[in-house]
Amino acid sequence: MIVAIDGPAASGKGTLARRLAAHYGLPHLDSGLLYRAVAHHVAARGGDLHDPEAATQAARALDAATLGDPALRGRHAGEGASIVSAHPGVRAALLDFQRSFAATPPGAVIDGRDIGTVICPDAEVKIFVTASAEERARRRASELAGRGEPVDQAAILEDIRRRDERDTTRAVAPLKAADDAVTLDTTNLDAEAAFRAALAIVEGNPKRRRTA
Ligand code: CDP
Ligand code: CDP
Repeated sequence: MIVAIDGPAASGKGTLARRLAAHYGLPHLDSGLLYRAVAHHVAARGGDLHDPEAATQAARALDAATLGDPALRGRHAGEGASIVSAHPGVRAALLDFQRSFAATPPGAVIDGRDIGTVICPDAEVKIFVTASAEERARRRASELAGRGEPVDQAAILEDIRRRDERDTTRAVAPLKAADDAVTLDTTNLDAEAAFRAALAIVEGNPKRRRTA
């Protein structure tokens, strides 16, 4: 079974994907980490994130073993990821890795922006996770506060809006729900309620029943 989870920044897609993967005993891929790693690699060498050549080269040379680097989780890498991810060469270079991850039995739960639309258009289950920008900013802020980091609410909201804008308007693989995705609005759901709603979507999915 392949479960594709897409949605904007801080919608809770990673948390949901991890829980679904654990529940169904499937490997989980956070595809955002790939773009974060590319941005990190370019920046660490003093390169320009807006330069498609430098970014594409970094994507081709990407070593999946480096995806655990904690530096990739920061705000900086996320912002950089949204810049390099707009280069078609970067997306092309990361395509095979994601498709083979999905194609390896017993399947996978993958979260990102274009999993249901581009990477795994035939996924048995597609969930598009959303929440209002204000709620997503609140979630990011409480994550930072939980780590003892300074919190600037206005800057976080601005950051989320800029990322939404960039991700939804880019020419290649923009953030959008696949036609056959089920949208899950988590604005008023905590992570547990979102997980239960997602389970109901997976279990009630006619495509999954056919393949189970
Ligand atoms: O966790 P958060 O949603 O903040 O970020 P992420 O999922 O790690 O993604 C960081 C950036 O990578 C996004 O803003 C996208 O521009 C890009 N991305 C993408 O283009 N396609 C994906 N499948 C995943 C991430
Ligand atoms: O992967 P993405 O950027 O979409 O979001 P995340 O990192 O999974 O979740 C961001 C934060 O929101 C985490 O601290 C979650 O505990 C929290 N949260 C959630 O994941 N789901 C909800 N329905 C509500 C809050």
